[in-house]
Amino acid sequence: MAPLPLRTWLTGAPPRGQDVAGACAVVVDVLRATSTVAAALGHGAACVIPRTDVDEAFEARAELERRGEEPLLGGERGGFKVPGFDLGNSPLEYGAERVAGKSLILCTSNGTAALELCHGASRLYAASFVNAGATAAAVAKGAEPVILCCAGKEGAPSLEDVCCAGLIAASLLKVYRYEADDATTMAYLCWKYYAADVRRLLKTCNHGRHLAGLGFEEDLAFCSQVDALPVAATQRDGEKLVVVAQD
Ligand code: MLT
Repeated sequence: MAPLPLRTWLTGAPPRGQDVAGACAVVVDVLRATSTVAAALGHGAACVIPRTDVDEAFEARAELERRGEEPLLGGERGGFKVPGFDLGNSPLEYGAERVAGKSLILCTSNGTAALELCHGASRLYAASFVNAGATAAAVAKGAEPVILCCAGKEGAPSLEDVCCAGLIAASLLKVYRYEADDATTMAYLCWKYYAADVRRLLKTCNHGRHLAGLGFEEDLAFCSQVDALPVAATQRDGEKLVVVAQD
C-alpha cells in the first residue's frame, strides 16, 4: 500500500494547492483554544461549537436558547473574556461543575478560526498536548492523508503548536503508512528539542510569555500536561462544526 501523506500547516493556513478535502485534519492551538476544547469535553461538556466571529457566537447561543437549551458561551479577545460571555478561554474554568452536560460555544482569536477553516475535512480533530495521545490513536484508525493544522497567531507560526504537531506526528510515524512532508519533519525536530520539558517550552514561546504577563501562568502549567486527558475531540457525524468526545 502506498504511504499516506502526513502534512503540517505551520501558520493556520494551507500552502498553495493544498486543502482538507479527503483528509483527516487535526487542528492544534495549545495556547489555549484546543486545550480548552479538550478540558471541556474531558469534563463532560456535551459538545463544543466553534465560532470565530463574536456576533455569530452570540447568535449561536441565542439559537440554542430558542431551542430550550442553556448553553455556555466562552472564549476570548486579547486573552480576556469577552463582555457578555459566560467564560473566558482559560481551560481551568472548564471544570465538570461548570460544563458537564452543557453545549459550549467557543469563540477565540485564532484556534476556532483554524477549526472553521478545516471543517470540510473527512474527519476533524482538535488537539493539544493534553490529549495528543488520544488524538493520534484515533487518527491512526483511518486510512486517509493527514493534515496537522497549527493555528499559530495572526498568520505567524507558534512554537508550541508546531511542537505539539511534532508530537502527534511522532506517534503517527510509528505507523508505517505515513510519509512526512518537510514541514512535518520540522515539527518533529522541534518536538524532539523540547520533549523533555514541555513546561519550559510554554514558558519560552511568545504566546506563553504573553499569557504569563496577563496573569495566566497557571494555564501554562495545565496546557503542558502531555496526555492528561484521554479524550479525542472530533466533529460529530454529519454536523458541521459540532465537536464532541469520540466514543
Ligand atoms: C486563540 O484562539 O487565539 C487563543 O486560544 C488565544 C488565547 O490564548 O486565549
